[in-house]
Amino acid sequence: MNDVESLKDYQRVRLLAIRSLFEIVEQSSEGTIIVDREARIVWMNERYARRFGLPNAEAAIGQPCESVIPGSLLREVVSSGQPILLDMLDTPNDPLVVMRLPIHDAAGEVIGAIGFALFDELRSLSPLLTRYLSMQEELAATRSILQARQAKYSFANFIGTSAPSLEVKRRARRSASTDSPILLLGETGTGKELLAHAIHSASPRAHKAFVSVNCAAIPEALLEAEFFGTAPGAFTGADPKGRPGKLQIAQGGSLFLDEIGDMPLPLQSKLLRVLQEKEFEPVGSNQVIRSDVRLLAATSTDLAAAVQRGSFRADLFYRLNVLPIQVPPLRERLADLPALCEAILDELQLSTGHTPHELDASALALLARHSWPGNIRELRNVLERAALHSDDCLISLEALQTAIGTLQAVPELPQQMTLATLATGETLHAARENFERQLISATLSAAAGNVGIAAQRLGLGRSTLYKKMTALGIIS
Ligand SMILES: Nc1ncnc2c1ncn2[C@@H]1O[C@H](COP(=O)(O)OP(=O)(O)O)[C@@H](O)[C@H]1O
Ligand SMILES: [Mg+2]
Repeated sequence: MNDVESLKDYQRVRLLAIRSLFEIVEQSSEGTIIVDREARIVWMNERYARRFGLPNAEAAIGQPCESVIPGSLLREVVSSGQPILLDMLDTPNDPLVVMRLPIHDAAGEVIGAIGFALFDELRSLSPLLTRYLSMQEELAATRSILQARQAKYSFANFIGTSAPSLEVKRRARRSASTDSPILLLGETGTGKELLAHAIHSASPRAHKAFVSVNCAAIPEALLEAEFFGTAPGAFTGADPKGRPGKLQIAQGGSLFLDEIGDMPLPLQSKLLRVLQEKEFEPVGSNQVIRSDVRLLAATSTDLAAAVQRGSFRADLFYRLNVLPIQVPPLRERLADLPALCEAILDELQLSTGHTPHELDASALALLARHSWPGNIRELRNVLERAALHSDDCLISLEALQTAIGTLQAVPELPQQMTLATLATGETLHAARENFERQLISATLSAAAGNVGIAAQRLGLGRSTLYKKMTALGIIS
């Protein structure tokens, strides 16, 4: 039979083609692996074994395929009997193009599978590969963003064994397992944000994102987009591709709304809709997105009074007020002072690498006489400043006094405030900062920690006061 004649015999061509196909595939293959019915490795070539970190092919024999090749789908081929003709497999080096075929016995039963890694074919697939790699990069970036959005604190980070502290922790723990909104109430610096993190960490949503929005810190005009995201080209200056809002980023996880008392009324209505209907629309879009987010809200303002004034929606207030948690101010749980100081000083030591600072009984007694308008945040800042100005391990009483500034045993009005520690030799800038810090702390204290009221009394806008508080280290 001449060559052309033999090509007319289909059965024969089939056999020849199968043979040459197999040879070509095997020769150009970067690796070949054969598994049995249980997906255990029966044979593997040397090069392929070494690619996956084995000393030789012998070491692979008898192992489940996935334990040598993570992500291997040969088990699927064996159990379905279906080939996977073209696929990409991630390896520690480059991704491979792989082909996986079932092996049948004479009776047609699947007895195993064979996998080829067609490394050489990658070049011809380069446009596909580029796309694949850029998708991989995007995935890695998304994963790391998600990681950055994990909660930072758990209940163990909430220091305090006084009765009020234990009660707050008990309530917060109990609320973690439910899906209802939680309202954290309390003065600034009492640990509301810390508790929000802890509740998320102890909830079934712990492995999903924890996203926070400070309603007081974002300009009103931008808040809605920040919240609900924008549709492509929603408004002039908007991201042409559109931008996901915090609600979308928090899908499946928790959304923490700090200073919710500062949310503008129109946005309150939209938030209410999210709570009631579990859906929302990005700005400039009429596409309705279903939301699956657990809401945690915090405020240092008196929401009931805000409802009375008409600056907070009553229906939203009732909706949020299902599980209110009142976080007590530091002055009502002074028994926690020693433990708090120790924890804070230990932490400061870790971040500076210095030997730990300690407080003696007189220092603790001094701390217990202050009313702590800025609560634990203020305590932290005071200890940090005092440690900085104490030469040896023991924090001196003077350093502590200077760091506290005006001791506020009883909340007093800022107009009556005097500067207790007028240090000459200080630069005007430092002295002014010191004065501002004291005035703001005293005003906050007189306003029972209510930033809105303090801002009014100081003649500042709320967000300006916030900025100042951050700059002066009253909040972080
Ligand atoms: N019970 C606590 N134990 C330890 N640190 C605390 C505690 N409460 C608050 N803090 C710390 O005090 C600072 C202010 O807490 P934060 O949660 O931001 O307060 P808030 O949200 O009420 O203003 C943070 O550094 C936080 O880690
Ligand atoms: Mg806060």
